[in-house]
Amino acid sequence: MDYQKILDEITSQTAYLQGKGEVASYIPELAKVDSHHFGISLHFLEGNHFQLGDAETRFSIQSIAKVFSLSMAIRLLDETIFERVGVEPSGTAFNSLLQLDYEQGIPRNPFINAGALVISDILVSELEQPKQALLAFVRKLSANPEIGFNPAVAASEKLQGYRNTALANLLKSHGNLHNEVEEVLDFYFHLCSIEMSCKELSRTFLVFANHGKIPGTKEEILSTSQAKRLNALMQTCGFYDEAGEFSFTVGLPGKSGVGGGIVAIHPEKYSISVWSPKLNKKGNSVRGMKALELFTTKSGLSVF
Ligand code: DON
Repeated sequence: MDYQKILDEITSQTAYLQGKGEVASYIPELAKVDSHHFGISLHFLEGNHFQLGDAETRFSIQSIAKVFSLSMAIRLLDETIFERVGVEPSGTAFNSLLQLDYEQGIPRNPFINAGALVISDILVSELEQPKQALLAFVRKLSANPEIGFNPAVAASEKLQGYRNTALANLLKSHGNLHNEVEEVLDFYFHLCSIEMSCKELSRTFLVFANHGKIPGTKEEILSTSQAKRLNALMQTCGFYDEAGEFSFTVGLPGKSGVGGGIVAIHPEKYSISVWSPKLNKKGNSVRGMKALELFTTKSGLSVF
């Protein structure tokens, strides 16, 4: 199959969507991004790589980083983390407060903000220098020592972080946040501020397509069973109240972020990442969703 040709076609066939949607302005620093960027990158486990457009420009990966923090927590505490956070799709917005209170402070899953805050709390408890440990982990998975936080994005999110602060306080009131709210939020905002390019993301996520082993070094990051669970969570909860839509149209486990990035994997085959900053109402990249739908349709490479 001519994958470069498929990426070319996808780029031209989704160009009409470039103006659709809005950049995430609730984090003022993200609103400054040039919304015309479009990049796509495809890495196969057997080594081939294809890319197009702004595939090497770094952007704010936002909630995509929650896959890294969840992997770290699973490595540290395995199944026990699921006593504090569920594994069900939320069917609500990623920053919803109502469901959390109704369900007594147990977030539906680790990818909605409340769940990612509980995972952040676990890492703050377990690690001596959690932010440094997080960066070391991501740098190891990506084999790239230059990946880092964007302090301006972290600060911008903190400044406007009313909902996340409310969620953290609500978790604390239900006894499901063990550290100080400020400390957990600081870790969470830095997590979301990590910057990577499509090329770096698709290469890094190969570990999740490879049963939790880093391709090349073969180092085990997650056991086969842990990787299965992580991928299942991406499939069912990676797109919040649009998880069904993503499964329906694209048919891959994946994760989105409000920076406009999406990364998805096909177990034992490949990882693909796309970036286009304008989002739909659910917080997912408009052009990115369509691009991935076209990719699995044209290539026939979905898990279904
Ligand atoms: O907490 C927030 O609202 C952002 N840092 C992350 C949200 C996000 O990326 C949701 N994903 N689509």
